[in-house]
Amino acid sequence: MAEFIPVPPFDLVVFGATGDLALRKLFPALLHRFLDGQIPASSRIIGVARADLDTDAFRKLVYESRGKFAPGACVDEAKCDEFLSHIAYVRLDATASAPEWAPLNAALAGGEGKVRIFYLSTAPSLFVPIAQRLAEAGLATPDSRIVLEKPIGRDLASSRAVNDGVGAVFEEHNTFRIDHYLGKETVQNLLVLRFANMLIEPIWSRATIDHVQITVAEDIGVEGRGDYYDKSGALRDMVQNHLLQLLCLVALESPNSMDADAIRTEKLKVLSALRRIGPQDVVAKTVRGQYREGLVNGHKTPAYAEEIGRASKTETFVAIKAEVDNWRWAGVPFYLRTGKRMGARRSEIVVQFKDTPVQIFGAGAGSPNRLVLRLQPDEGVRLWLNIKEPGPGGLRVKTAPLDLSFAEEFGGVRYPDAYERLLMDVVRGNLALFMRRDEVDAAWEWADELLAAWRDGGGEPHAYASGSNGPTQSALMLDRDGRAWWDPER
Ligand code: BG6
Repeated sequence: MAEFIPVPPFDLVVFGATGDLALRKLFPALLHRFLDGQIPASSRIIGVARADLDTDAFRKLVYESRGKFAPGACVDEAKCDEFLSHIAYVRLDATASAPEWAPLNAALAGGEGKVRIFYLSTAPSLFVPIAQRLAEAGLATPDSRIVLEKPIGRDLASSRAVNDGVGAVFEEHNTFRIDHYLGKETVQNLLVLRFANMLIEPIWSRATIDHVQITVAEDIGVEGRGDYYDKSGALRDMVQNHLLQLLCLVALESPNSMDADAIRTEKLKVLSALRRIGPQDVVAKTVRGQYREGLVNGHKTPAYAEEIGRASKTETFVAIKAEVDNWRWAGVPFYLRTGKRMGARRSEIVVQFKDTPVQIFGAGAGSPNRLVLRLQPDEGVRLWLNIKEPGPGGLRVKTAPLDLSFAEEFGGVRYPDAYERLLMDVVRGNLALFMRRDEVDAAWEWADELLAAWRDGGGEPHAYASGSNGPTQSALMLDRDGRAWWDPER
């Protein structure tokens, strides 16, 4: 049974409160947690933005967006109103000088003794100015916490500048760097699966695993975020953070406990062992793509260039053969793949085991074992085993899944959005699912080298039709290794 343990009372200030992330994810997440009784009555949520709104108009905005982003949440309208009564709005230009921040000081008055959180759901260029203003305005108390959304910088140097600037005001143990993939149910399940089952860990190494595939396929395009995305591309937007974090959780050694630093230290070791991809192997080990027009879920969709309104060389797809140079994983490739406007939304980790050393049932009988962790949609775990096909007519080997569909097993339980857990973890002060500064640095060091290699001779992104699995070069990359992406008909 899901259990809702109330968090301590808090004051949460959301900068960028009228933005897409806040309305689509943060307020719906808070609404759900409130309805489940996890948010104490004395907590306050203060939206901050430049828009000329008052508290009533802002509450209306949040109320209206809940229909779209938290459908079905407000069966009890009175409860919904109660949630809204915890919300206030402060109109503020975050770059304004400290005296102009007085309304925010006023809104936070009387909050002594409560957990104080500043959530920066703004352009990253505002992270440092906001942290500085919070210090100047006397709002950043020694215990207050700051939450930073990705992207933190666009390379190692800019990320360091952000972390230095924010770090001058907030200590590392009060800094919560969000990677929302870490808040997804199945991602946490990966740790449980690995470290709560005796069965898994002894076979989790180069001795038995042939390779690992991590796919995060999206069917959406850039959704009006063209300006940001075109300067970023799939490597910075998805690989440097989400995919590398998933790789870390597959590859890390057992942490001594679930203590935040125990986990983060193990992740850092994986990132440090990631082999750099330089100019000599960028063509063999990476593929970039950009979507052209096509058919996605039966609808005709435009090309990326058309969507953003100009020609571009930014990658909307990337496939990478990553390698982790340590004793456990040497020689086991981690194939990473992510792209926009692919055939379907699907995030999956596939652990492909080696073939049996001898085939006593004849060559080609059955296939190597495969553990598939489905992150979204249809969360679940499938272990593909070889069994005897029932019935007479000789001994036929068939590959079939042991299927743990979470929807069937835990039917009726609503899957909380990643932000629900992450926001409550910030209030609790649990840093386990947030990135430590040295992790972000290590991920950028690896990404920077790859970006430089692409710049110095990695060619241009290959075209792929929207609705496909990406450019054919991605399939060829695995084909050269005698392997193939796990793309079963669904
Ligand atoms: C974000 C990226 O971090 O993750 C987006 O900036 C991407 O481009 C999104 O669409 C994917 O998240 P999810 O939870 O929908 O898989």
